[in-house]
Amino acid sequence: MSLTSIILSTGSYLPSKILTNADLEKMVDTTDEWITQRSGIKHRHIAGENETTGDMALHAARKALENAKLDPQDIDGIIVATTTPDRTFPSVAVKVQGDLGVKPGLAFDVQAVCTGFVYALTVADNFIKMGQAKNILVIGAEKMSSLLDWTDRTTCVLFADGAGAVILQAKETDDTLSNKLDGQGIHSTHLYANGSKRELLQTTGGVSTTGGNGVIEMQGREVFKYAVSYMADVVAETLAYNGITSADIDWLVPHQANIRIIESTAKKLNMSMDQVVVTLDHHGNTSAASIPLALDEAVQGGKIKRGQMLLIEAMGGGLTWGAALVRY
Ligand code: ACO
Repeated sequence: MSLTSIILSTGSYLPSKILTNADLEKMVDTTDEWITQRSGIKHRHIAGENETTGDMALHAARKALENAKLDPQDIDGIIVATTTPDRTFPSVAVKVQGDLGVKPGLAFDVQAVCTGFVYALTVADNFIKMGQAKNILVIGAEKMSSLLDWTDRTTCVLFADGAGAVILQAKETDDTLSNKLDGQGIHSTHLYANGSKRELLQTTGGVSTTGGNGVIEMQGREVFKYAVSYMADVVAETLAYNGITSADIDWLVPHQANIRIIESTAKKLNMSMDQVVVTLDHHGNTSAASIPLALDEAVQGGKIKRGQMLLIEAMGGGLTWGAALVRY
C-alpha cells in the first residue's frame, strides 16, 4: 500500500489594517506609479503592534480545520513556515499546537524565507508518505513588517503580513488509475538552495551576530534576475519529471513577490495570466504566507476546483526556490 498527501482544506487570515501605496507616499520618497509598475502591489495588510505571527497562524489554522470539518484532536502534526517567529524559541508551531489544544505530536518551524511554504509542504508530504502522520497542518505565517526598515523605500513598499494554512491528509494511492497523475494529491516536489548567493537578500542581524533581528536588505535587481531564471528552471523540471506539459496545468500558484516575475514564468510556460492566481496587488509580498494565502483565496472564491492540477512555485532569500505539482 502506498500513501498520497491530499490537500483536504485551506484557510487564511489577514490583519485588519490596510496600508496603501498612497499611505507609503507619505512615509518615504516613492509613488503609487513606481510601486505599481515595478512590483504590481497596490495595497497590503499590516499586523497590529501586539499581533504576532503565531496569532495569525492560529487564525488561519482554525479556518482550515473548520473548512475540513476536523477537530483539533484529529491533527497529528504541525509545520509552520516562517522567518518571523514570535520568539527565537519555542517555535510558532508549538504555540499553535498548544493554543488549538492539539494532542502531542510533531510540531516545528521551517525557515526558507519566501520558499518556506514549499519546503514545509514537502516535509509534511514526506511524513505522510512514510506513514508517520495522517493529518498535518501546514502553515505559512509572517509578520514581515517587523523586519522592515520603514525608511528604506527599496524594501518597505514590498513586504506585508498574513497567514495561510492547508491540511494535508494521508490517502491510499489509487493504483487502479491508468495515469497516476489523474489521482488527487501531491505528485512531486522539487527544492533548491544556492547559499553562495545568500548576501543578495538577508537581514542585517540575528541572534548570534548582533543579538537583534536586523532588518531586510535586498539587492533587488540581482534577486529579480535569479528569480526569473530559477523559476523557469524549476517549473520546467517539474513538468519534465512528471512527463507533462503546461497544457496539463489548470492553475499556476506562484509566490507573490513581483508581477513581472510571475508574468515571465507564465510566459515561459505559455500560460495565459487568466490561469495564474495573483493576489500580490492586495496582499503584497507576505513571504512564506503568500502561497497558502493565494491558494485559500482562489479556493474560497471558486477559482480552483477539485480535480484541477496546480503548479506551485516560489523563490526567496537563501537563495532558495522550489515547486510542487498537486492535483487539488
Ligand atoms: N520608489 C521609487 N523609487 C525607488 C523605490 C521606490 N519605492 N525603490 C527603489 N527606487 C529607485 C532606485 O533607487 C533606483 O533608482 P536609480 O535608478 O536612480 O538608482 C530605481 O528606482 C530602480 O531601482 P531597481 O532596484 O533597479 O528597480 P527594479 O525595477 O529592479 O525593481 C524591485 C525593484 C521591485 C525590488 C525588483 O527588483 C524585485 O521585485 N526584485 C525581486 C524581489 C524578490 O523577488 N524577492 C524574493 C522574495 S522576497 C524574500 O525571500 C524575503
